[in-house]
Amino acid sequence: MNVNRSPGPWAPCAPRRPVTNPAMSYETLPDRVLDRRELRDLVDALAAVPSRWEDQVDFPAGEGRHYASLHRDAYVDVWLLCWRPGDDTGWHDHDVSSGAVRVVAGRLREYNPRIGGEHLETVIPAGQSFSFGPDHIHRLTGAAAGSVSIHAYSPPLWRLGQYSIGEGGVMRRVSVGYADELRPLDAAGGPERTAPAGRPPVPSSG
Ligand SMILES: [Fe+2]
Repeated sequence: MNVNRSPGPWAPCAPRRPVTNPAMSYETLPDRVLDRRELRDLVDALAAVPSRWEDQVDFPAGEGRHYASLHRDAYVDVWLLCWRPGDDTGWHDHDVSSGAVRVVAGRLREYNPRIGGEHLETVIPAGQSFSFGPDHIHRLTGAAAGSVSIHAYSPPLWRLGQYSIGEGGVMRRVSVGYADELRPLDAAGGPERTAPAGRPPVPSSG
């Protein structure tokens, strides 16, 4: 199937894996859903060509994280996100999509929920990338001023699941559209830690 792949974006790379194909571009992508390895290759390749996305970098005064669509076709969509410290997606999944994230400036902090214990916390600095499947639930926050990341999803995002974790660790999911800005649904705002049974949740320090 021939899809309309416009000349486009590029992205980030990283320590979880080196760039394997810096020449990759939208034009050379297969006409099918991409797996997480291919998505990671894509964001890593895009990161190697800043001229294809750096004009979208912006930190508008008085606003939250800035995001710009770099590319979208039948099989993949790619976004550039600009983060301030404290910018927070809240807990979410990507419905049926796999994804990959490359940090090109600053650093992000990823949390993965752990029921009955402390959430996993990973800092992803500039130059690193990671990928995930549709089973992945996470929360991303800006961890440094001027942070920039490139995100690719396949199939393209259409719906996402957004979660709250209430007092006592009860997790609830609501389906939202991909154009809706992800934000924390937890009453406390910032990443919570799920407390052991019988204890109240303890807000994270960062
Ligand atoms: Fe995400």
